[in-house]
Amino acid sequence: MIRRSLTSDVDQLSAIETQLFEYDILSKSNFKYLITKANAQMLVFVENKKIIGYAVLLFRKNSQKARLYSIAVLSNYQGKNVGTMLLEELENYAVKKAVKEIYLEVRIDDKKAKSFYAKLNYEIFGKYKNYYNNSIDAFRMKKTLGDFKTK
Ligand SMILES: CC(C)(COP(=O)(O)OP(=O)(O)OC[C@H]1O[C@@H](n2cnc3c(N)ncnc32)[C@H](O)[C@@H]1OP(=O)(O)O)[C@@H](O)C(=O)NCCC(=O)NCCS
Repeated sequence: MIRRSLTSDVDQLSAIETQLFEYDILSKSNFKYLITKANAQMLVFVENKKIIGYAVLLFRKNSQKARLYSIAVLSNYQGKNVGTMLLEELENYAVKKAVKEIYLEVRIDDKKAKSFYAKLNYEIFGKYKNYYNNSIDAFRMKKTLGDFKTK
């Protein structure tokens, strides 16, 4: 089941971060801010009360663009479509908010994430040098909503 994230999810969200990321880890207070104060939509995928994954989209005032800030699925549950369902749900929400484009950054050496986004029709349009804390470059990717291309 997918639902909006609640402040009571913060401990589990933080555990997912620690399992999956080595750096640029979101803290509990980062999550709390995203859930309660940010101009954002944060969704979680829940199975038997356990949070399997989350995805968060940031909006900007007076902008038709939104940024996929983070998405993560617990290792044991990856490759089972959970990430796809979370991102598609965020895209549906974005369309309702009149967002025309979603953009994101991804490590240039992250094959799995790149193929995940490519499958969902995100396209590379640029690059940031030394984007992450450990100096790895990032590709910028974007998707125009409502522009459903077939591959
Ligand atoms: C990237 C991530 C969110 C994808 O979520 P997921 O639930 O595993 O993805 P899905 O099952 O919906 O997979 C959809 C597509 O992604 C690609 N993909 C997923 N897992 C993959 C893997 N292990 N290797 C290569 N491609 C993969 C495939 O194209 C897949 O389509 P297919 O199943 O038809 O081959 C998840 O793997 C994850 O949390 N990774 C670690 C954190 C991370 O990298 N976050 C993104 C940072 S930019």
